[in-house]
Amino acid sequence: MAEEKKTFYITTPIYYPSGKLTIGNAYTTVAADSMARYKRAQGYDTFFLTGTDEHGLKIEQKAESKGIKPQEFVDEKAASYKKLWKMLDISYDKFIRTTDDEHVKAVQKIFEKLLKQGDIYLGEYQGWYSVEDEEYFTESQLAEVYKDDNGKVIGGKAPSGHEVKLIKEPSYFFRMSKYADRLLEYYNEHPEFILPHSREKEMVNNFIKPGLEDLSVTRTTVNWGIPVPSDPKHVVYVWIDALSNYITALGYGSDDDSLFKKFWPADVHLVGKEIVRFHTIYWPIMLMALGLPLPKQIFGHGWVLMKNGKMSKSKGNAVYPEMIVERYGLDALRYYLMRAIPFGSDGNFTPEDFVERVNFDLANDLGNLLNRTVSMINQYQDGIVAPVSSQEDEFANSLRETAQDTIKTYYTQMDELHFSQALDTVWKLISRANKYIDETTPWVLNKEGKKEDLSRVMTNLAESLRLVALLIRPIMTESPVKMFKQLGLSLDDEQATSLQWGAYGWNSKVTADPKPIFPRLKNDVEVKYIKEQMAKAKPKKATRSEQKKQEPKHITIDDFDKVEMKVGKILEVSPVKGSKKLLAFKLDFGEDQVRQILSGIAQFYPEYQELVGKKVIAVTNLKPRKMLGQLSQGMLLSSEKQGKVRLAIVDDSHEVGALLG
Ligand code: MSP
Repeated sequence: MAEEKKTFYITTPIYYPSGKLTIGNAYTTVAADSMARYKRAQGYDTFFLTGTDEHGLKIEQKAESKGIKPQEFVDEKAASYKKLWKMLDISYDKFIRTTDDEHVKAVQKIFEKLLKQGDIYLGEYQGWYSVEDEEYFTESQLAEVYKDDNGKVIGGKAPSGHEVKLIKEPSYFFRMSKYADRLLEYYNEHPEFILPHSREKEMVNNFIKPGLEDLSVTRTTVNWGIPVPSDPKHVVYVWIDALSNYITALGYGSDDDSLFKKFWPADVHLVGKEIVRFHTIYWPIMLMALGLPLPKQIFGHGWVLMKNGKMSKSKGNAVYPEMIVERYGLDALRYYLMRAIPFGSDGNFTPEDFVERVNFDLANDLGNLLNRTVSMINQYQDGIVAPVSSQEDEFANSLRETAQDTIKTYYTQMDELHFSQALDTVWKLISRANKYIDETTPWVLNKEGKKEDLSRVMTNLAESLRLVALLIRPIMTESPVKMFKQLGLSLDDEQATSLQWGAYGWNSKVTADPKPIFPRLKNDVEVKYIKEQMAKAKPKKATRSEQKKQEPKHITIDDFDKVEMKVGKILEVSPVKGSKKLLAFKLDFGEDQVRQILSGIAQFYPEYQELVGKKVIAVTNLKPRKMLGQLSQGMLLSSEKQGKVRLAIVDDSHEVGALLG
């Protein structure tokens, strides 16, 4: 009977199809792809999963703001993500969508099973919810809280800076606490379960030891989700839905679970550091409750940061992969991502650093080595790489030894997902080969007619390049193809693809007219270009009416009653010193009440004096605030359409000081 192939199962997180993917998202996916390619090359039967996490309030609201159904919205997004992955040569075996019928049915089965066995129970949820983050926070987790006069918390901001609101609703809960001890025991028995190790300490000390709270796993306030079959006004809330993807994608809970039998447990889940908690606490507990084996490893990588913090569209510091690939080629992006930031740590993307790496590492070190080698082989030996002669010299020995060490070290580093170090190792071989040219001075050997020596040098260089191409192949998908072509080799040839010094019996003809595979970039021009592209992607600030359109919210009559609005008569209008936008209004609200209100409408009323005597509507119970040293005691109502702003002027029949409502 044939021996069964070793298997390898690797996953990325499933991405929220809410915005455009940045090089930060591409980072996880390129890493997973590199690993999958590396394992396939080693003969593993590999399954690489990625996909989209399509349910939740944020998606529902985004779709609504576009006036389309959530399904239509996520269909479009999922298609655009697939297109991007194609552009980045992502060799996934399956793209799961949480709206897939199979997934939905399996999640429902999982939920009902957990409910039946008592791991899930019905309770009431109360928490501070941030729509943007799709996350609930306890009061102590909030970055900022707003209090009323009695000191009661009435609102606040999530650590991300987004506003939160208090939500109370019936909810099903998962009994996490029941499994805490078993989880800790599992960590102890499996020291490689959470990597890097520092992240395990963080989980234990910050979350498990203080006591695991039961996790709210359903919502009644969200429509766009998977309904709980036995209580359909509840939908399954993000994490049970999302995390299950790793098993439902393999057919768990469906009629055909052969992939699940073959590939589960996963060898590694790659995740960003902010979702390590979900993957190392909630997910293992869910699996324990389901009686399934746990994944072998969760690797929590760091973030691709920008000088001014995390990448975000609104800050104008987001870099999109398409732009980089279109201008600099796919391998420049894949190389940069895997080389510049050690996997597990945070790292900064700067346009300067990017351009420098492309120039130094790719154009100079690698590109030049190939170009010089192929050109010399053309010049000195009519393009022929001859089989290696047995006779060697000290430089060749040293080069060969470096190559052999490189391969060994590289394997260890790749096995541990140290992509950056593995590339560093390969680049040492590239430098060694470049040095070999300086040491052996082929142009002198040629002049002196030392044909045999020259031929050996050329073959050793070609052999180094052959190995380099194979070593970078999991990470860089285009260059090895070009390198092999220029060297006259085929990637389908078993011997030529053997990762061993001397494994290939050379006798090939190189390209007659080799083009540099990485053209040198003009530093200033390219840095400027990337910066311009980043700035272009920054959305224009939404006007208030646009914001309202994007986030249609219902308020109660009680909410409305909180706002005090009165008719005021304009007594004086004057510009505010130091501001082009503001006008200062003195208004009469009757009963001797005169207030000053500042309003940012100067550009719409160049003839502002004409406003004197007009009656307008003002919000009069806003907290007073100072702008440019002047006090503003309220807000004037105005309308805005397509950038045109007019004050809400009412006719004279309205009494000064009259309340609106
Ligand atoms: N939907 C959840 C994951 C559920 S997995 C069962 C989610 N989605 S996400 O779209 O917000 O993020 C997906 C991944 O992208 C995360 O691992 C996150 O860390 C990663 N990245 C997003 N921006 C990033 C950087 N700037 N740098 C590195 N990775 C970052 O979370």
